[in-house]
Amino acid sequence: MNNNYSYRGVLETAERINWRIEDIIGGDKRLDFTKPFMPEALAQVDGLGFLSNEEKKILNQIRGHEYLAMFGLVEEFILPFAVDHASERLSGDDYRVRALLQFAGEEAKHIHLFKQFRREFAAGFASPCEFIGPAEDVKKFVLSHSPLGVGIAILHIEWITLRHYIEGVQDNQDLDPQFKNLLKSHWLEESQHTKLDTLMIEELVRNATSQEIDQAFKEYGEIGAFLDQGIQQQAEFDVESFVRATGRNLSKSEREETNQAVLKGMRWTYLGTGMTHQNFLETVEAIKPAARKQIEEMAPMFC
Ligand SMILES: [Fe+2]
Ligand SMILES: [Fe+2]
Repeated sequence: MNNNYSYRGVLETAERINWRIEDIIGGDKRLDFTKPFMPEALAQVDGLGFLSNEEKKILNQIRGHEYLAMFGLVEEFILPFAVDHASERLSGDDYRVRALLQFAGEEAKHIHLFKQFRREFAAGFASPCEFIGPAEDVKKFVLSHSPLGVGIAILHIEWITLRHYIEGVQDNQDLDPQFKNLLKSHWLEESQHTKLDTLMIEELVRNATSQEIDQAFKEYGEIGAFLDQGIQQQAEFDVESFVRATGRNLSKSEREETNQAVLKGMRWTYLGTGMTHQNFLETVEAIKPAARKQIEEMAPMFC
């Protein structure tokens, strides 16, 4: 594959960046509920003309809560994946072992960070917001697939966090500063994870037969379909949370329209941004050009 990633290079950058949760949330760093939490590119609530600006902001914040919960959920399976991959070879390449353990440590920190933000959210938001799960079942399902299949799904997830920050948050002056900092901090460390995941995939591909590669892409599709089922359920939860928080009595067609907007926003946030990500597609193409074509054909459903 065509890149200059190395475990040593990643480790050096990761050690320089390594931020603390306390610097992002907690103490005097509180969420500002007068502001939106998510960029409109991901939230996609502005088109709902029958909602007031205040209602759109509340729906945006509910999507923010869902983002915290969704990343908390997926990182629950990324952490054991990284640990397992490191523990297979604990001697030999010292940079590799340290970079992968650093990766695992960062994902454990991110899980903690997302939980802290959810606690802050719950403390300041009008009413409870439901979320799919339990995380343990999702983890069990995802990790029941081959390491290469899981690795490709994780590579997709790592790349989308970069895109979320660069395309929607970086130059956005309207968002709550703490939420913006969360997305920035996540982006800073995920930038190393995309490289590590690419390196891990390269190792797995080197030892894989063409049948195993075919199987891995089939599994990537299965994991994506499983996440999409969760997304469909979560879109309904988000709309229920909105009705609960605002007391707004939506007509049947307004509710349907809201549901469709949230579903479209969620599909783009978690699936479309990965399936159309050039770096992700380049890695896929290097493994199996036909798989890239297939992903590109499927992508418009999630964009
Ligand atoms: Fe993360
Ligand atoms: Fe990550």
